[in-house]
Amino acid sequence: MGAKDIVPRIARLFGRANHTGDAVPIPHAGLRSRDEIYQWIGQGIGRFKEWYQPVDFGNGVIAHQTCPPDWTPRPGLLSDIGGGMAKWNYIVRKHLPDVSRMRILDVGCSSGLFSLELARMGAREVVGIDRDSSIAHRSSRVPPPQDVIAQANFVKQAFELLEGRAYPVTYRALDVGRLQARELGRFDLILALCVVYHELDRMPKLLRTLAAMTDYLLLQANEAHGGELGNYSSVRYHLRVLKEVGFRTVEVDAPVDYLLPVIVAKK
Ligand SMILES: C[S@@+](CC[C@H](N)C(=O)[O-])C[C@H]1O[C@@H](n2cnc3c(N)ncnc32)[C@H](O)[C@@H]1O
Repeated sequence: MGAKDIVPRIARLFGRANHTGDAVPIPHAGLRSRDEIYQWIGQGIGRFKEWYQPVDFGNGVIAHQTCPPDWTPRPGLLSDIGGGMAKWNYIVRKHLPDVSRMRILDVGCSSGLFSLELARMGAREVVGIDRDSSIAHRSSRVPPPQDVIAQANFVKQAFELLEGRAYPVTYRALDVGRLQARELGRFDLILALCVVYHELDRMPKLLRTLAAMTDYLLLQANEAHGGELGNYSSVRYHLRVLKEVGFRTVEVDAPVDYLLPVIVAKK
């Protein structure tokens, strides 16, 4: 089958890219060659308006971060240590314990880049939670309503097709502001990178809930925000609440000139 034949076939599979980001599963059955898979991925990227994490699928196919107000892709941000795999490699990865056989929760998993990485590192099970289009981002109206969980499932399907393996990763659309401690069970490790402070005055309740679900929490604060959000996103506020909810050992990695410090909290 040549490229000429593939394009109409892919178009039939997808319909037009329309930025709906809805939860309709994107069919991929029958894709065989890498060319077909990459064409499928390229089409799928266009279904989602918001790409917070830039995702490099290889072969030059990249979902670049999109930013308000126009949500056009920003190629320059792929290597920015403020997000995505560049951030992971710069400041997150080195703070992880040996994750093999761990059950891990990724709170605010976004497109699921880090959930997949944890699975690649040997985690037994990873659960990622984020918004669907009915769940609001409390601190800001900037992210458009979007089914982020559909996006994470699309990214997972893409890498599973490319790598010819299945990952023990599941995603759930759950409002972190309404998370119940017993809803998902206990975890060996919880990651909540750049997310808990978006709940503003509900942040202590969310951290108390996470504390009931794990003894080991990896958080990322944000010293770049100002105003009310800046108060909640500061390391100072994180440390105060983490002590209150029962974490006895709390370490901070705050490199000079880097505004997203990582906090490792253990009971
Ligand atoms: C700043 S992004 C961080 C994403 C990812 N953890 C990272 O570090 O790259 C915050 C994430 O939290 C999610 N989020 C915000 N409010 C949420 C809510 N109420 N329920 C579930 N997810 C939420 C957003 O959709 C987004 O994916």
